[in-house]
Amino acid sequence: MDGNLKIPNHIGIIVDGNGRWAQNKGLSRCEGHKAGAKNLKKIIRYAFSRGVKVLSIYVFSTENFKRSDEEVNYLMDLFVQSFKNEFAKLKEENVKIVFSGRKKPLPNKVLKTMDKLILDTQNNTGYTLNICLNYGGHAEIIDAVKKISSDVKDNLLSIDLIDEKIFNKYLYNDLPPLDFLIRTSGELRLSNFMLWQSSYAELYFPKIYFPDFNNEAFEESLIEYNVRERRFGGIKYENKNH
Ligand code: IPE
Ligand code: IPE
Ligand code: MG
Repeated sequence: MDGNLKIPNHIGIIVDGNGRWAQNKGLSRCEGHKAGAKNLKKIIRYAFSRGVKVLSIYVFSTENFKRSDEEVNYLMDLFVQSFKNEFAKLKEENVKIVFSGRKKPLPNKVLKTMDKLILDTQNNTGYTLNICLNYGGHAEIIDAVKKISSDVKDNLLSIDLIDEKIFNKYLYNDLPPLDFLIRTSGELRLSNFMLWQSSYAELYFPKIYFPDFNNEAFEESLIEYNVRERRFGGIKYENKNH
């Protein structure tokens, strides 16, 4: 393992491929989600142990409510279970947990466990775990625009002051830009994930279903990040004499 790797400050993971992982093994989609949740707790700890400061995980999109009642209900129960057990333990590991997404129509039992995690970890300062649940990039931008409009109307904000920094503060959480976006399962799309924050993110699409995305695969992702040349619209030359 290379000890000199540059570590992205903010990584986003689109957790994808649980269903196909299960199907390949002759299991139900829900079994795939169970295996995905088990893997997620390992990857979260591993990412922070490697020096990642902010980790955003996409676990349920606003569009995922289109799935069968059986699958949606299973996922909601899985969130409650994981938040009460594994995620609650992150309190002792200096991880601040925040959520991105709309509250409606999440069931009360999920909202209650979310609120408890936020409250219990609000004073932690080491790492931030942003859980994108009932999240959509479009919804986030629309919700920000509504809050901005309301503040402008109430004379709490002047239109002239609105810039990227101010806009960011009106998003679900005022997070730093995404440096590295990993989507497992090989699909080459964003599916409405962090559209504002990913403007200059490096994108990576490993062909591994999420339950199999282990620490080794995470390490390979870091190596891939390290061969990317980030330019942010500027110019970088290989040879400085040019
Ligand atoms: C990702 O796995 C988990 C969620 C979207 C909740 P999928 O359930 O999308 O798995 P595939 O893409 O069908 O394999
Ligand atoms: C995106 O995955 C949402 C999450 C991973 C939570 P999907 O599996 O829902 O996305 P599509 O439907 O393949 O674009
Ligand atoms: Mg999927």
